[in-house]
Amino acid sequence: MNNKASLFSNEHLLSLLRGEDDDLLFGLADEIRKKEFGNEVYIRGILEFSNHCNKNCLYCGLRVSNRTIRRYRMTEDEILACVDLLAAEQVGTVVLQSGDDFNYSGACIGRIVDEIKKRHDIALTLSLGDRNLSDYSYWRKYGADRCLVKIETSSPTEYNRFRSGETFASRLERVKELKEMGYETGSGVIIGLPGSGVRRTLQDLMFLTELKLDMIAVGPFIPHPDTPLGDESPGGVDLSLRSSALLRILNPEANIPATSALDALSPGTRIKALGKGCNVVMPSVTPEKLRDSYFIYPGKNCSETTVPAFLDKIRQDIAKAGFTPSPSKGYSHRRKNV
Ligand code: 5AD
Ligand code: SF4
Repeated sequence: MNNKASLFSNEHLLSLLRGEDDDLLFGLADEIRKKEFGNEVYIRGILEFSNHCNKNCLYCGLRVSNRTIRRYRMTEDEILACVDLLAAEQVGTVVLQSGDDFNYSGACIGRIVDEIKKRHDIALTLSLGDRNLSDYSYWRKYGADRCLVKIETSSPTEYNRFRSGETFASRLERVKELKEMGYETGSGVIIGLPGSGVRRTLQDLMFLTELKLDMIAVGPFIPHPDTPLGDESPGGVDLSLRSSALLRILNPEANIPATSALDALSPGTRIKALGKGCNVVMPSVTPEKLRDSYFIYPGKNCSETTVPAFLDKIRQDIAKAGFTPSPSKGYSHRRKNV
């Protein structure tokens, strides 16, 4: 833990999460972000290339039992054409994201990674779920830079419940193995899953901090009507903003995105999060005809503009908020001393 954070007791951290001193919390988070990243905001374009998933997480619209969404898969050529467009747009990182979709073989993803890295000087993040570790190791050899594997909650029993029988220990082991393979590794939790309160949130944030991650993402729970949690209350936007601010204080060097779930609950909040400790935005760059089918939760991917227009708008919003939208790959600052 860095010096400033260790000045706070557990009770003080809880009071900060409850909103008892937002000026202190957000002010300190902003100061630490600024010292580490200056004015730069990194942009990671998320290409959601398939919305098929073989998992059944209770909170997620892509769960295999949800028959109400239109499923799609992009071809290798379509994926590569989208990445060409992102590179031309000077986006520094592309995130290839899908549900757990084994229809794309390890070799197929390997070909895509290889081709992207041959064609472009762009950082590549994989967010593909629980694929074989031998595949991840193979993709790493082709030049994949980063992985995103969320733990969603630090409670093994809640993990097992919310992810329909999956085990927390194996998820955690995966995060550690990916780090050892040399991937910049990101993880995160959903804030305000049903039954969790401020104490659980603090436990989650401390747990994430112990993992010494390169990237940490937290966003509020949003009930999806076609899931078993459809009638539950949403997670708090304020608690989510306070959580990312506290993570910044605890993890000065980590990349911390202002998550799109914030905007889904309260439009405009994602940009505000940049002044409260966050330093990354991750817009969907999925082609407009598919974008709204990546329906994880209501309010996700509601923009209907073309990818270049959408990127322009995001860059303008970042600039209007007083930051510099950066074309940098935004490598982890945590690794500069490794
Ligand atoms: N609310 C908020 N975040 C969600 N995710 C999935 N469903 C929801 C929801 N209802 C997030 C999870 C998952 C990612 C694909 O989206 O963190 O890892
Ligand atoms: Fe699949 Fe991920 Fe959604 Fe779970 S959260 S159902 S693994 S896409």
